[in-house]
Amino acid sequence: MPVPDPRFSILSEDFAADPYRYFARLRDRSPVHYEPAIDSYFLSRYQDVQRVLTDHEAFTTETLQERAEPVMRGPVLAQMTGAEHTAKRKIVVRGFTGPALQEQIRAIHANAAELVAPFLPRGRMDLVNDFGKPFAVRVTLDVLGLDREDWQQVAAWLGGVGEFITGIVLTPERRRHCLDCAEQLEAYLVPVIEQRRRHPGEDLISKLGTAEFDGIAMSTRDVTALVVNVLVAAVEPADKTLALLFKHLIDHPEQLAQVRQDPTLLPAAIAETLRYTPPVQLIPRQVEEDAEFAGTVVPAGATVFCMIGAANRDPDVFTAPDTFDLHRPDLGTARSFTAAAQHLAFGTGLHQCVGAAFARAEIETVAALLLPLLDRVRYSPGFAYRETGLYTRGPASLALDFSPSTPSSAPTPFTPSVPFTPSTSTNSAADATRRHVRRVV
Ligand code: HEM
Repeated sequence: MPVPDPRFSILSEDFAADPYRYFARLRDRSPVHYEPAIDSYFLSRYQDVQRVLTDHEAFTTETLQERAEPVMRGPVLAQMTGAEHTAKRKIVVRGFTGPALQEQIRAIHANAAELVAPFLPRGRMDLVNDFGKPFAVRVTLDVLGLDREDWQQVAAWLGGVGEFITGIVLTPERRRHCLDCAEQLEAYLVPVIEQRRRHPGEDLISKLGTAEFDGIAMSTRDVTALVVNVLVAAVEPADKTLALLFKHLIDHPEQLAQVRQDPTLLPAAIAETLRYTPPVQLIPRQVEEDAEFAGTVVPAGATVFCMIGAANRDPDVFTAPDTFDLHRPDLGTARSFTAAAQHLAFGTGLHQCVGAAFARAEIETVAALLLPLLDRVRYSPGFAYRETGLYTRGPASLALDFSPSTPSSAPTPFTPSVPFTPSTSTNSAADATRRHVRRVV
């Protein structure tokens, strides 16, 4: 049984204010950190996190039955394994790769141009609240074939659903609120799903609604759960990554100047943002049999949280890990949005993010549009930077000043620089990740 450290808690306000200050100490002194209040273990070393995420027999996603299913209204991809997982994952991937992606890039550009336009003459914008949040919801609604005008209502419901999944401790009132949000989101989605089954289009809901698994069409409950799965998974990390990318570039003016001059550096800047400050900080798994990490035995049935932020700054894997450097040779940018990514921001193994390639297209497209428009971009006077979130983490706001301009100066739609490889994350992809990491570690 591990001895909890009474002087330090991951649930403390100090840790929430800046977890990065504690990661080295955790990796060095308490790599299997036990939190008695929630009877869970936190793993901070890259190798341990990578082991948990790729050994699917020993570490399962059973915890999601309680943690996600009540608000997702059915089983989500992360709960599935085997043929069912492969088949349903492929259907989801088809919704935002290939010809569908080209159409979506136009929609991403149109959404971004429309949202930024009112702020250009003012020369001032909060990149998180004025732009990133509405942008990420509207783009995801477009992919699903839902009405982008509904974004505020959908965002409010998603807030409740997300809080249920990521809230480490929930009061009964918050729990009720979250379940209400999930019920209302389901009531909004079900008629659309049924209508798309009768009259399918090119959108992801139509693809899910008409796809078959083992020769049988998916039930409305299954389709609803997958749609909620995509909404929850796609929106929050994307808006956080965009804001974090701008923060790191503003904090490193020489790298900002390089990206402005050569936009083909954007994928590297996005990948380094994901390594340095991953928006998904924790990934939970259930331990199936007693498992030993760094001399500590974690008992069967326990919950372990993989600390992605800490693993991504492990000096055994990344040189000078606390430095933001888009040119770092140990990142392997070309692989950063595939199953062989070296950073763990998209997870790894069977459940590695299905939307990694789409996320890259989305952020690369919008950053390429914004960077020339937000000329002389800097923090607004008096702005105080603050991040929030233990499970998912990002800036509360990002107040920016820039040279005022007119909306008509928006450049033409941007074509991302490198072809997209969807992350299929089959067992062989997971094997490739394992082989690759073994070489590097
Ligand atoms: C920068 C943006 C993103 C980040 C950092 C991110 C991160 C992650 C992570 C860490 C996981 C693994 C969870 C686990 O192992 O339990 C995951 C899974 C997933 N993500 Fe993303 N995500 C991003 C964008 C997206 C987008 C845009 C979509 C959809 C369009 C998406 C859809 C999914 C889905 C459906 C899964 C579950 C996959 C499975 O279990 O097989 N994500 N994501």
